[in-house]
Amino acid sequence: MTGNSAFAVETEDLVKVFGKNRAVDGVDLRVPAGTVYGLLGPNGAGKTTAVKMLATLLRPDGGRARVFGHDVVAEADTVRGRVSLTGQYASVDEDLTGTENLVLLARLLGHGRPAARDRSAQLLDAFGLAEAADRQVKNYSGGMRRRIDIAASILNTPDLLFLDEPTTGLDPRSRNQVWDIVRAVVAQGTTVLLTTQYLDEADQLASRIAVIDHGKVIAEGTKGELKASVGSGSVHVRLRDAEQRPRAERVLAGALRAAVQLDPDPVALTATVNGHDTDLGASEQAARALAELARAGITVDNFALGQPSLDEVFLALTDRKGSAA
Ligand SMILES: Nc1ncnc2c1ncn2[C@@H]1O[C@H](COP(=O)(O)OP(=O)(O)OP(=O)(O)O)[C@@H](O)[C@H]1O
Ligand SMILES: [Mg+2]
Repeated sequence: MTGNSAFAVETEDLVKVFGKNRAVDGVDLRVPAGTVYGLLGPNGAGKTTAVKMLATLLRPDGGRARVFGHDVVAEADTVRGRVSLTGQYASVDEDLTGTENLVLLARLLGHGRPAARDRSAQLLDAFGLAEAADRQVKNYSGGMRRRIDIAASILNTPDLLFLDEPTTGLDPRSRNQVWDIVRAVVAQGTTVLLTTQYLDEADQLASRIAVIDHGKVIAEGTKGELKASVGSGSVHVRLRDAEQRPRAERVLAGALRAAVQLDPDPVALTATVNGHDTDLGASEQAARALAELARAGITVDNFALGQPSLDEVFLALTDRKGSAA
């Protein structure tokens, strides 16, 4: 389908500077074709700026970027023909209805009137917007609005679709609908580059993730690799008695040789089993910690060992850098 490169996106030392602000500060990315790739980072990390350069909307100040092997500057027209962008700030016309928007955009893409109407009806139906097809978009809910944006960006099936924070501000049900749409788009062979601030979203959709902060990639890999880089597991403990928590914290910290987090719930603690400086597996270390809590006379109501969440991964990565953000 896409031919000339195994990578949908390849960047080398990509840079964008606004005044003194290095919004994108030497980013190397490789996005395998046919997958969802997550670009994960907090506000101002440089995600939208990076995506805009890849979509040829902003010119890089340094480095190189290729989309399916085509340089985004030298071959911008070719790149533009292969990609589609659903922006953080959407592009459909508020005063037009759902159908009118899609038909208009389809005609601009060169479809004849009957084909444009067919494709619009098909997408509105697929995205659960058939009933709202004749309503003005300004009267759509946030979730409906996001869905029509994505529908508009896949009128022609792009080889590479940029989704810039597609579910920010949506309720859980609408988020799930958007996730289903993303999965359906990928099943048809499109590569998706997804930016998000939500770790669970990257966890749900992406096969690989780059964590970006202050314009730099601070970690990259599969979800499993990112989690493993931070620790092999996470121990969650609930005590019977909140007064025992300071002592439990000391015992756990000693047994696991790890920082212990005090949860908002006054009887709960969380610790990461790091697995780096010991031969013991995560479950053995956790068992030893549990035994030491018992020996110290601390009553444990509930004890669980899990994989660290991507949230914990992100916090650990940004802490490690000593980031102020
Ligand atoms: N056109 C611009 N002119 C000047 N500064 C800009 C411009 N666009 C972005 N910036 C700055 O570049 C940095 C990165 O912004 P960017 O929009 O790429 O972040 P982001 O990761 O998409 O954040 P968010 O999650 O809030 O959307 C920020 O400091 C931002 O203020
Ligand atoms: Mg953004």
